[in-house]
Amino acid sequence: KPGWPGIIEAYAGRVPVPPGARVITLGEGNTPLIPAPHLSELTGCTVYLKVEGANPTGSFKDRGMTVAITHALASGLRAVICASTGNTSASAAAYAARAGLTCAVLIPQGKIAMGKLAQAILHGARILQIDGNFDDCLELARKTAIDYPVTLVNSVNPVRIAGQKTAALEICDVLGRAPDVHCLPVGNAGNITAYWAGYAEYAADGVVPSTPRMFGFQAAGAAPLVRGEPVAEPETIATAIRIGSPASWDGAVKARDLSGGLFDAVTDEQILDAYRLLARTEGVFVEPASATGVAGMLLTAADGRLPRGSTVVCTVTGHGLKDPATALEGNIEVEPLAVDSRAVAAALELS
Ligand code: F0G
Repeated sequence: KPGWPGIIEAYAGRVPVPPGARVITLGEGNTPLIPAPHLSELTGCTVYLKVEGANPTGSFKDRGMTVAITHALASGLRAVICASTGNTSASAAAYAARAGLTCAVLIPQGKIAMGKLAQAILHGARILQIDGNFDDCLELARKTAIDYPVTLVNSVNPVRIAGQKTAALEICDVLGRAPDVHCLPVGNAGNITAYWAGYAEYAADGVVPSTPRMFGFQAAGAAPLVRGEPVAEPETIATAIRIGSPASWDGAVKARDLSGGLFDAVTDEQILDAYRLLARTEGVFVEPASATGVAGMLLTAADGRLPRGSTVVCTVTGHGLKDPATALEGNIEVEPLAVDSRAVAAALELS
């Protein structure tokens, strides 16, 4: 059999699909869990990165989407719909294309990264830009799915959560135990809900002896869970998590409370610092939202809330190539050099 079969087959029995369903997979999951030596040194912990940008469409959404599209196809409806800050739409578009389903995506006008839009376009999704934010888009998608024959594939669809929990299972399978602390960015709060479901399931089944404390981090301008109330006009450079009213609010609070975890906010500046640090010291290029969990880990390490000596996993949720504009920002164009090795050496200060 050629390699990794995708998360539905790899975790058969733990990820429910309808009997006899044709499984729609792009080989998602089995992503690298890599040691992060520089972050370990900075925090006094043993830090690993779960690199979800290595999924087929470049984000963790693929784990949920293989399950959602497999169910949607089996249901007999011919179309799926989602609201998205970008990654869900890219993933839904790809899996729907593979299944031969029509995919409609509702995205907030002008607020999604270029790479994600390019993916949705090329996979043939019907893209509707909405004059509103993600929260408006999600409300609209939910309403449309109630009134018309189309399947909602946002993470309010519980099968999405069942797929995404496999990231936690993989971490336990690789480490042979759960980490002490798990750090991740939180937007609509589906992913923290899913990780907690995975860890709790393995602990309940005795596969691992304990569960990690869940540390969820939001951008300061879009931090409803930290404030304890919805944010009407969320704003952050991390467009993926520019969300004011998370759909899985209760799931996130449960994950925090049952795990002895915490929520906190980090500024856009802290997010961008962590984004550059990951790229320059660990060699890992993520999108800005993905650096939010790392920024939060550094914050809690600095103020003592993250105990030294802990084993910590940070999920980096999406690939840096999704958002080239943010990476290129501030890089001024320079005049080209002559074809001359002395000029190259001088520019590099080699001589
Ligand atoms: N990181 C990235 C790269 C994301 O795209 C998202 C969510 C999150 C973190 C937060 O995960 O919503 O489960 O708490 N993106 C969604 C989307 C909203 O439409 O692509 P969450």
